Amino acid sequence: MFVTQNWYCAAVSSELGDKPLSRKIINEDIALFRDEEGKAHALGARCAHRGGDLSKGKCVNSTLECPWHGWRYDKSGHCTHIPSMGNEGRVPRMAKVPSYPVHEQQGFIYVWMNAEVKPDWRPEPRPFLDAPYQVRFGSRHQKGIFVHTLETALEDSHVAFAHSASIGRDIECAQLPPITNITKSDDGRTVTGELIWPEGSKTAATPFKRWLGKLLVGSERDGNASDKRYWVDISGLTVHEYPKEGGYRYYVFAYTTPVDEFHNRFFVGLADSDPNRGLINRWLSKLLMSSVFKHFVFHEDEDMISSALSDQYPGGHPKALFVKADAMGMAYRRMYTAALYAEGKEPAWPPVGPRPGPVTQPEKEVEKAV
Ligand code: FES
Ligand SMILES: [Fe+2]
Repeated sequence: MFVTQNWYCAAVSSELGDKPLSRKIINEDIALFRDEEGKAHALGARCAHRGGDLSKGKCVNSTLECPWHGWRYDKSGHCTHIPSMGNEGRVPRMAKVPSYPVHEQQGFIYVWMNAEVKPDWRPEPRPFLDAPYQVRFGSRHQKGIFVHTLETALEDSHVAFAHSASIGRDIECAQLPPITNITKSDDGRTVTGELIWPEGSKTAATPFKRWLGKLLVGSERDGNASDKRYWVDISGLTVHEYPKEGGYRYYVFAYTTPVDEFHNRFFVGLADSDPNRGLINRWLSKLLMSSVFKHFVFHEDEDMISSALSDQYPGGHPKALFVKADAMGMAYRRMYTAALYAEGKEPAWPPVGPRPGPVTQPEKEVEKAV
């Protein structure tokens, strides 16, 4: 079960050109297309005639044409033309597909996954997606339960272990200070927190990993741990914000969009406001976004996340426990679970937070553990 009254990141703007784009989001097949003004639209991809895949069709005069028998749909999802009926034929009223609200900003296309209920909020512009930030991003399809994928993008406790073969820090550096100043925004859709290291803390013991960390995050000095701020918001955005010398900032961010119960689309990016960063840093961040890196580091994440899939527990372990270091991940699970309850749905994974009706024992344990 997923929240439908929510903006999900569907695509990077540059992915959607003259041809429609196929996406599956929370189990719905979507066809994204641009009209003649270049505005993006999202329709249910199953043609009302025989269920042809509209995302494999063509954009014609601001409509989307089905590749099977050529029925055309406008941005509101109404069929406007049925070639086999000629110019005189009346298009049946039932000839329509769902039309989902779309919002495009700062290089990303978001889709509101409820065709019946109009959105009452929009994704906020992100300061790190505009100049002077230099941004690089890419996306990949990833196997695993939605909340596990999102929580892994947010929780640093996995880095020393899941990434021990690549960027992972040494095990003795795996202990993290508590996340402090956890704050929920007034609208209840964003949670922030801070990680402040004790003076002199080291994050990486081997010279190679120190060098890599310094180049990747820029603010690490000789392996000294870097303080950071986390953000997470209901649309699936997770952010790690690092201060740099000279008042500059560096961000590692990701959108996790559920495809179905067992797959996600993961958009990951880096943003740096430092105009003086060296050639090597630029080259390395390019490498980070390249397919080699995507198939290396993110593959390590996927290996772990997908290892939790089992026939025995299709929604994840029924007694998922959260400890203090998992506070940001838990904040998201709580926020998303509350939104599910508001739509009268039950989460497929162990819930956190207050729910309508009697509270069950596993939830009490989860609450107590944090
Ligand atoms: S299935 Fe789409 S026009 Fe026939
Ligand atoms: Fe990871």
